Amino acid sequence: MSSSFSFRNVQKVTTHVLQEMKLKGEKIAMLTAYDYSFARILENTGIDVILVGDSASNVMAGYTSTLPITLNEMIYHASSVVRAVKRALVVVDLPFGTYQGNSKEALVSAIRIMKESGADAVKMEGGREVVESVDRILTAGIPVMGHLGLTPQSIHKFGTYVVRATTDEEAGKLLEDAHLLAKSGCFAIVLEKIPAKLGEQVARAVKIPIIGIGAGKNVDGQVLVLHDMLGITQEFSPRFLRRYHNLSEEVTGAINTYIHDVKSLDFPNEREQY
Ligand code: KIV
Repeated sequence: MSSSFSFRNVQKVTTHVLQEMKLKGEKIAMLTAYDYSFARILENTGIDVILVGDSASNVMAGYTSTLPITLNEMIYHASSVVRAVKRALVVVDLPFGTYQGNSKEALVSAIRIMKESGADAVKMEGGREVVESVDRILTAGIPVMGHLGLTPQSIHKFGTYVVRATTDEEAGKLLEDAHLLAKSGCFAIVLEKIPAKLGEQVARAVKIPIIGIGAGKNVDGQVLVLHDMLGITQEFSPRFLRRYHNLSEEVTGAINTYIHDVKSLDFPNEREQY
């Protein structure tokens, strides 16, 4: 690569590009999107990775967890995003209940996502318990991103969204799981809500990119839920969330002005009618 090379100039972000970014020390920027309009805005910024997260269950559908969203709904969100995107790598969450049963079911679900949405890769939560599914999905040529630490699909097992892997035993298990996922061929791993020191340790120990959400700064990239970082959602305020905007307030202001204009006969005016 020449000295003027910039990853921002690559025509298509692939899993190989992400690996190169890790090797060169360029941080990976990833955000969620669930619809065409926001995906188009993200694509135009040159973001590296767009995650069609099952957080759509919370922020788009209003459920209190990620469990209810279905495979068909994820495919609907993913295909809307894919229609807006050429350059960014589009990764889609396998929703709860579509891969935990057995690896054949996991493969069928992953194939449906790839075939029906046109996405580039799938993501699944878990370590050793999903390695067989990761292996099988990879044999079909589908890239897989792992997800360790706080895994929201297991909320009923843990009962709380507190920081994960705070004991030596849990930290050791997480590190082992990261090695297992990397060895089985995952192209990257999301680490959610774990101590920053452990995030750094995992990023140093495994060769694939580690993308953090509440895993500190010494990992290979960061991901946030778009609606949280834009301030569309208001009620969710974990320490790791930096709000870059207060869109909820701005939209409320615009809508209140519209209501006022309609009721006061200010809208539409002469120039806004035929
Ligand atoms: O569903 C999602 O948005 C995610 C991110 C929080 C990583 O999995």
